[in-house]
Amino acid sequence: MPTLLQLDSSADATGSVSRAVTTTFADTWTGLGDDHVIIRRDLHADPLPHLADASLHWPARLRSPGATPPADAEALQQQIIHELISVDAVVIGAPMYNYSLPSVLKVWLDYIHIPGVTTPFDNDAQPMAGKPAVIISSRGGIYDPGSANADWDHTVPPLQIILGNALGMDVSVIKVSRTLSGVVPGMAGEADRAAEELRAGHQRAAELARKIG
Ligand SMILES: Cc1cc2nc3c(=O)[nH]c(=O)nc-3n(C[C@H](O)[C@H](O)[C@H](O)COP(=O)(O)O)c2cc1C
Repeated sequence: MPTLLQLDSSADATGSVSRAVTTTFADTWTGLGDDHVIIRRDLHADPLPHLADASLHWPARLRSPGATPPADAEALQQQIIHELISVDAVVIGAPMYNYSLPSVLKVWLDYIHIPGVTTPFDNDAQPMAGKPAVIISSRGGIYDPGSANADWDHTVPPLQIILGNALGMDVSVIKVSRTLSGVVPGMAGEADRAAEELRAGHQRAAELARKIG
């Protein structure tokens, strides 16, 4: 039963580009067969609490003596980690907010990046190694290679480092830029390229879902 974890984090419930593209991915996934299932987690509509205690970054065996994270917070973290390691692939809607991640998505990363549990530390633990992760990065502005703000994107790099380098996942990134071309007066001339990026983003999402699923 190929299972996809679909994470969304946009605060836009009606016109979100990242939600539209994760939906294309998810719909393509379920279209591959009745056995293809999805676990959906909307991190904006149902946000996780911030990590209750720094000791939760570590498994119990690696915590400082006397560390006593709240039991309910630890149980929730175990649930989130189990949810991740039980699936075959992950698709993540990751809008750019202030050049970085929506805070609700950052919290999810804080829950799942645990040395010795999801990434090797005192052992070889890497349960997500080789599994696909598809990041859908929507952004209002322009961050093309060679553009003035090319190195201002701090949304995608942390996801690539945590999911790819630390967890060993096979990460693909779909970037849809210029989403504010219809809103920001100075970007009016970008509308055609914005529309093309959106079309290409949906197409790539469907292709990846078919390939991975
Ligand atoms: C709180 C907030 C902060 C934003 N910060 C940026 C930014 O730093 N750079 C940018 O290009 N766009 C920024 N935007 C615009 C979003 O990246 C853009 O609207 C994108 O399409 C959001 O993804 P969504 O369509 O899935 O909601 C911001 C939007 C919001 C709501």
